[in-house]
Amino acid sequence: MGSNERPEPLRLGSKAPNFKAETTAGPIDFHEWADGGWVVLFSHPEDYTPVCTTELGAFAKLEPEFAKRGVKLIGLSANTIESHGGWIKDINEISGSNLRFPIIGDKQRQVALMYDMIDQQDATNVDERGQAFTIRSVFVIDPKHTIRTILSYPASTGRNTAEVLRIVDSLQTGDKHRVTTPINWVPGDDVIVHPTIKSPEAEKLFPKMQVVRPYLRFTPLPKEQTSANV
Ligand code: BEZ
Repeated sequence: MGSNERPEPLRLGSKAPNFKAETTAGPIDFHEWADGGWVVLFSHPEDYTPVCTTELGAFAKLEPEFAKRGVKLIGLSANTIESHGGWIKDINEISGSNLRFPIIGDKQRQVALMYDMIDQQDATNVDERGQAFTIRSVFVIDPKHTIRTILSYPASTGRNTAEVLRIVDSLQTGDKHRVTTPINWVPGDDVIVHPTIKSPEAEKLFPKMQVVRPYLRFTPLPKEQTSANV
């Protein structure tokens, strides 16, 4: 890469870059911390702000469901870990949560810039207190450190934690069973047999398969095979 060139953008399928960072759970090397499991890395704009408070409380409450699926959560903003520490007390009091996952204190926005967790304005501007925001980004990263999902939300719109969990369920179910998941799928619903699995292998693997079109084939999965039970 020449000095005037931008770094390669992170895309679905990119390797999640490693970094070292200060977090509320102590310093980490990201890949070591991931420890061969799934990770949801997500950023919020700023501590002690209303939407972010509701979001972090919701992620904390749903953390046991992510843990069941072998997924570690890790938050990030450009605030200090001291700020995060005080805010976590507020989050728990307000939401009735017990926030235990680490939050990165990315004061220099080293990780935020690496993962492009900034919007056009915040690429150049900071707020009146000199605080540079990060956007509401979500990266779902698999055990091989491959980025499997990237979501970006504006500061004004809180995320949907159930949707993040649903994405994890879809990815893990797809990886295990060579299936894809249709619109609005939730665990327990029929899935779609991957187009690369041709007959007669498809009939053998999925005896209850229903062929709507040769390119659209639904099948139920046995109940115990949904990802939460993997
Ligand atoms: C919020 O969390 O409410 C928020 C944070 C930054 C900008 C706008 C809203």
